[in-house]
Amino acid sequence: MNRLRCDQTPAWTALQAFFEKAGKDFDLRDAFAADPARFANFSQDAPHVFADLSKNLIDADCQALLFDLARQCGLEQYRDAMFSGEPINRTERRAAMHFLLRSPPFGEAAQQRGVFEKRADDLAHVHATLDAMLAYAEQVRGDDAITDIVNIGIGGSDLGPQMAVLALSEFAIVGKRFHFVSNIDGQELAGVLAALKPQNTLFLIASKTFTTTETMTNAHSARDWFEAQGGKNIGRHFVALTTNVAAAHDFGIGTTFGFWDWVGGRYSLWSAIGLPIAIAIGAAGFREFLAGAHAMDEHFRTAALAQNLPVRLGLIDVWYRNFHGFTSRSIAPYSSALRRLPAYLQQLEMESNGKRVDLDGKALPYATAPVLWGEPGTNGQHAYFQMLHQGTSVVPVEFVAIKRGATYPHDLPGHHEKLLANVLAQAQALMLGKKDGGGHKDFPGNRPSTFLLLERLSPASLGALIALQEHRVFVSGAIWGINSFDQWGVELGKVLAKDIEPRLASGDATGLDGSTAGLLRRLRCDREMPHEGH
Ligand code: F6P
Repeated sequence: MNRLRCDQTPAWTALQAFFEKAGKDFDLRDAFAADPARFANFSQDAPHVFADLSKNLIDADCQALLFDLARQCGLEQYRDAMFSGEPINRTERRAAMHFLLRSPPFGEAAQQRGVFEKRADDLAHVHATLDAMLAYAEQVRGDDAITDIVNIGIGGSDLGPQMAVLALSEFAIVGKRFHFVSNIDGQELAGVLAALKPQNTLFLIASKTFTTTETMTNAHSARDWFEAQGGKNIGRHFVALTTNVAAAHDFGIGTTFGFWDWVGGRYSLWSAIGLPIAIAIGAAGFREFLAGAHAMDEHFRTAALAQNLPVRLGLIDVWYRNFHGFTSRSIAPYSSALRRLPAYLQQLEMESNGKRVDLDGKALPYATAPVLWGEPGTNGQHAYFQMLHQGTSVVPVEFVAIKRGATYPHDLPGHHEKLLANVLAQAQALMLGKKDGGGHKDFPGNRPSTFLLLERLSPASLGALIALQEHRVFVSGAIWGINSFDQWGVELGKVLAKDIEPRLASGDATGLDGSTAGLLRRLRCDREMPHEGH
């Protein structure tokens, strides 16, 4: 498929001209004054998610040019290539078919036949594994002896399940605790193990590759702890979630749930990596989670560009990054249950689109992924919102709000109303600003935000929200012409750490650069810290 590079399209040139003429001085307050229907015109329903885009620095002309850009970059064809299982992850020669993990069985949805016909075998494997995993999840839920589930994994094998288990705590089984150990820092594992008994603990060793140093180090230490504490039956207390079943067997684990190389690590919470979620919310809940995501897949696959929410969000991301030059986006979920969403989205956005070369490996002359960061509201308001309102940089904010708050585990009166009042007020304040005679108390306003609203935080709406984010990252990655599905940038550090580890013991600094050698000498475990200046 020959796709034009975004900066070589007529639409890119038109957008540059538009930015100079109307874009850079665009004022949201004027836009609302000029168009009483702006809210209706720039908001939309998508499956399980309502999105208000009206407080973004766009108008109808700008959106039309962005849709032209999408067309001229072949976005729709590239999307269809993903959905038909073409190996769009070129550097790893793999398809990117995480959407298949949430598709109903082949034949159940007639409209999918065309798309998934070629993938019927994969889909059959997906459902066989899903059925087995969910049966196992139900077994664990019914096993009163298991009170603590410890997920050992990192990156996509940690962030997704951890975020979702926290997010869905209202729906989680009572009487079981969930722990997530990711860091190679032994303090994390030791802190979790200190409160556990082997006979009541189930370890889930989650690793796509089953080779990741952090996870394997923690897994070995957990097994040593289990045996040292008199734990008897590794077969019952250790389960592996991996594509590398052979390595799990070598480790001594008999119960494994597999997945496939066409599932990227950061897209894997829908696969066996989602087992902690399934144990927490049960088989029916996990199926709702998948169904919510599938509804968003179908929206992305079939809706016209102008009403396609992942497309609209991804294009706004490009508009901000490449024309306004904004370098970051802040995510502000007004929900304590969504407190790990920013961390989850950091991997999704920055591991996917933090790339500097095109699909052929040629350096790009334009910017790609923004920095993504954030904390749940209202906490962020008392930390960095100062900078969002009055700092020198404009940071688009993405608010996520839940209309109906959880009724379990709390039904404290008044809290949810205050939470909603705050999220509305922050979005309003960023946009409106305030003139106060200049100086310290002035708010410039005209600071853009997107507002995503869920009716409830449920398995289905969370599934849809995550799939929405996956697809918007796909859209900007497709426009930028990069491979959103590889992650070569994580490799160098891993290799260097392997070289350095024995040097910490031996003190051998041969061939190291001056700084690393100096720090190595200071870090030698068997030596006193030398005094400054020596
Ligand atoms: O190092 C980055 C990475 O490969 C991520 O992409 C992945 O989610 C994480 O490590 C964990 O990998 P694995 O599941 O194979 O242990």
